[in-house]
Amino acid sequence: MSTLEIRKIGGRIGAEVAGADLGHLDDGAFEEINAALLEHKALVFRGAGLDNDGQIRFAARFGDLTTAHPTVPSVDGSPNVLPVDGEEGIRSNHWHTDVTFVRTPPKVSTLRALVVPPYGGNTLIANAAAAYRDLPAELREFADRLWAVHTNDYDYAVPRTNSEKAAKYREVFVSTRYRTGHPVVRVHPETGERGLFVGGFAQRIVGLNGTESRDILRIFQEYVIRPENILRVQWNPGDLVVFDNRITQHYAPDDFGDQPRRLHRVTAAGDVPVGVDGRESYVIEGDEARHYTPAVAA
Ligand code: SIN
Repeated sequence: MSTLEIRKIGGRIGAEVAGADLGHLDDGAFEEINAALLEHKALVFRGAGLDNDGQIRFAARFGDLTTAHPTVPSVDGSPNVLPVDGEEGIRSNHWHTDVTFVRTPPKVSTLRALVVPPYGGNTLIANAAAAYRDLPAELREFADRLWAVHTNDYDYAVPRTNSEKAAKYREVFVSTRYRTGHPVVRVHPETGERGLFVGGFAQRIVGLNGTESRDILRIFQEYVIRPENILRVQWNPGDLVVFDNRITQHYAPDDFGDQPRRLHRVTAAGDVPVGVDGRESYVIEGDEARHYTPAVAA
């Protein structure tokens, strides 16, 4: 019999899971967790008790892992682990879906808290399927037909401080420039649910100019980040969060000054996004990032 307790913690997104020994999950428990993830989009495991290897093993239950990042180095000795340090000027305070500038962005992201500031430093996660459902029918039909160009070379990587470290980070972040065409509405490969697949890396609507693109993306983005669609995770050291990167966006508020904050991120590889008309995402610039994510089956 299952020992898992899955408790909904948000009206439209998020559940907290208790009673899971993430280091030794049997197949039944993993299936329950996966089903809960598909339903709730983001799961919080308080005091998960995992180290790097444990996080890697847990993330690998969802499928092959990506390496840490297409351009940013991993934690020393752990090629699948991305350090998320809250250093000034290098913060994820922009809404995004992880690594959508490549053709096959991760399927799920796991984040584990190592060092947490005494206040702030939360992570916000938004339900992009609820956002799609909220659109008036006319906008939904419009969105269904649109494609967007996602790139790593945009304001996100422009340092807001003059620190040498932030400038270096930008240089590394864009050391290979990626541009990928993705559907604005992605059909979830496991549930068939439709979600708005935009976020910060989406910089242009295919066929429109920059001004038109920004206006249209802003309209869709406002639906994604409605407060009703958002889960706010307040971290304690040792907590682990997993979210479905195919149908969510996230944001880390820059509200903890110069206090230390460190998370580790491990992601499971995704498949090629598919739009409402069955067409697949395509590379515009860069490559398929095979050093980062396993090759896609033909
Ligand atoms: C990320 O964007 O993957 C990191 C989120 C966070 O720092 O909370």
